[in-house]
Amino acid sequence: MSAEEISNKERERAERATKEWEANPFMKIFKVADTDLDNEMIAFASFLVYKNDEEAKEIKIRHADDIENLLGDRVNLEMARDFLGRLWEVKARLVGKTPHVQLTQLATSPRHQRRGAGQLLVESGAELADSLHLKSFLEASETGEKLYKKLGYTEVEVLEFDIRKWGGDVDPQRMKFMQREPRH
Ligand SMILES: CC(C)(COP(=O)(O)OP(=O)(O)OC[C@H]1O[C@@H](n2cnc3c(N)ncnc32)[C@H](O)[C@@H]1OP(=O)(O)O)[C@@H](O)C(=O)NCCC(=O)NCCS
Repeated sequence: MSAEEISNKERERAERATKEWEANPFMKIFKVADTDLDNEMIAFASFLVYKNDEEAKEIKIRHADDIENLLGDRVNLEMARDFLGRLWEVKARLVGKTPHVQLTQLATSPRHQRRGAGQLLVESGAELADSLHLKSFLEASETGEKLYKKLGYTEVEVLEFDIRKWGGDVDPQRMKFMQREPRH
């Protein structure tokens, strides 16, 4: 999608999401900038950090009603409700309200992939978790899984989702829940 193709509604949704992240006291955002390109940002990651029981009490599992706000009108909402509902159920069961660091987003600009930026970001999250003696947690797509394994994450549960139920023509997707123990 080019910048011109982003509708005003999409732009507003992105701005709303950014404001929400900025206001979230538990969210830490890391970015990678290329110093050879006038510090252009080429990758970023966000982590939720719940340092102790008190903070972990604040964890909010999004309610299904929020999904439209979260995803906008480009997706099949019925499908999203089913998928995210199941995802959040597993997450609540596995992590509960215990202190941890959670990788929530990771992306490298397609033009800059396979240069080590993704690894740098996941390592920064792991260092943060180690410094706080916290367990880390993430949901891995197939794209990210190899990177996470390399950095010490292990699989704890798999959620399979069959998009063909909603007319999709791709094989069932597998979302892996992975965790990493602190090194010290
Ligand atoms: C997943 C993602 C973040 C990885 O980002 P990245 O910056 O390309 O990650 P890295 O460069 O650190 O590592 C990716 C691969 O490049 C390789 N690599 C790193 N530096 C390299 C270099 N200088 N030359 C060649 N290969 C290199 C790594 O070894 C790794 O290879 P492997 O997957 O075969 O082990 C990126 O593909 C992405 O944004 N995907 C879309 C969004 C997404 O799927 N996010 C993850 C959700 S779980």
